[in-house]
Amino acid sequence: MTKSVYIKSYGCQMNVYDATRIADVLAPMGYTPAESQDAADMVVLNTCHIREKADDKLYSELGRIRTVQADRAAVGQAAQTIAVAGCVAQAEGDEIMHRAPHVDLVVGPQSYHRLPDLMRAGGRQISTDFPVAEKFAALQGQATSRGASAFLTVQEGCDKFCTFCVVPYTRGAEFSRPATDILAEARRLVATGAREITLLGQNVNAWHGAGADGVTWTLGRLILALAELDGIERLRYMTSHPLEMDDALIMAHRDVPQLMPFLHLPVQSGSDRILALMNRRHRAADYLRVIDKLRAARPDIALSSDFIVGFPGETEADCRATLDLVRATGFAQAFSFKYSARPGTPAADMGDQVAEADKSARLAELQALLMAQQLAFNQASVGRTMTALIERRGKRPGQWLGKSPYMQSVLVDGPDDLMGRTITAVIEHGYQNSLNGRILPAGTDRADILAA
Ligand code: 5AD
Ligand code: SF4
Repeated sequence: MTKSVYIKSYGCQMNVYDATRIADVLAPMGYTPAESQDAADMVVLNTCHIREKADDKLYSELGRIRTVQADRAAVGQAAQTIAVAGCVAQAEGDEIMHRAPHVDLVVGPQSYHRLPDLMRAGGRQISTDFPVAEKFAALQGQATSRGASAFLTVQEGCDKFCTFCVVPYTRGAEFSRPATDILAEARRLVATGAREITLLGQNVNAWHGAGADGVTWTLGRLILALAELDGIERLRYMTSHPLEMDDALIMAHRDVPQLMPFLHLPVQSGSDRILALMNRRHRAADYLRVIDKLRAARPDIALSSDFIVGFPGETEADCRATLDLVRATGFAQAFSFKYSARPGTPAADMGDQVAEADKSARLAELQALLMAQQLAFNQASVGRTMTALIERRGKRPGQWLGKSPYMQSVLVDGPDDLMGRTITAVIEHGYQNSLNGRILPAGTDRADILAA
């Protein structure tokens, strides 16, 4: 009998990847994607624990689900099976089981492959240990692409222990998948429609593994091997740590045309004092040196970053150092957050927590600068010709949205069959969050475009 499942993901791209894999493990049990959450036979909440607001969302969603369950019971409908997965499940699994009796299943990010067994066992079940190698072995050979752009997790977990971050506790220690498994999954993704693959890892550039030639590969070498697979037009990777940007990876940006000229490289702060308190293990100057090397290798590379303001002990001067680093670098886009104390992390117990009002003021100033840089970057694209991989329809009829090599959203008007295709467009307008382009006729020489 077919049943339907609705999987709702919060947080990062790794969770998006995990959501597709959860769908893959449930498919053999007869579960197909549900039209809507409330009509589904099973609901999976794939949660995020990175900041305070992220896990508040779980409890408010569970509250809403309780009302839906009551409505269903009132009209004689069966209760939905409710599963909580992801990083809140990992960190607070027992508490969820206790606080939310309508939750049937709790699985952590390294144990969701066990869902079918837990469901067959019946009753309320929790599994939150870290059998990461077992998970990838269980999932191997199942991946299918849901569109032209696919995620592929190559590395998971983190051994860096930045003092603000829960990831080492929720995702566990660093684990790299073997190169042969990654290449096999990439082939499957291409065979099922992917043209772009984004390699994922909490510390993706710490990936290393035995290559087909018996030598230990790092990410740069893996990218060379992936670029040789037929059908891969675009490669990306995220999220990286500045300390792991080795020369082989930087040279891949010079040598591999499929590797898109865009890099998300979180720096968190521009103050050496705060970077040390954060245990980032590099200084601002080290970051700027990496950026120089990347720009020497690939002059048009566009950069993105993550910033935290209001880390314990941060002063106005530290915050100015962050603004200076932003001005010195020039970002095409960025994410910035107010520090939020996460239970169990070293920074949560540091003295000198910054007042909420100061955090807000610093965030506003930083975001104004980052927004101005993003607008300038988008406006500088006007007049350029670039490719865009079409991901979905736009809001207006006949409009499509694709991604430029630099991760900008490009809106174009075009015929009905553009989904998943790569078009070439000349950019006519640059706005804060998107570009408007005009499609050029097919046959425009790709070599001209790449050189442009
Ligand atoms: N408070 C605020 N931001 C955080 N991040 C991670 N942990 C915290 C925290 N405790 C941000 C970092 C990271 C991004 C994914 O989330 O900038 O790079
Ligand atoms: Fe968290 Fe730091 Fe690891 Fe990134 S590198 S996941 S911020 S501990």
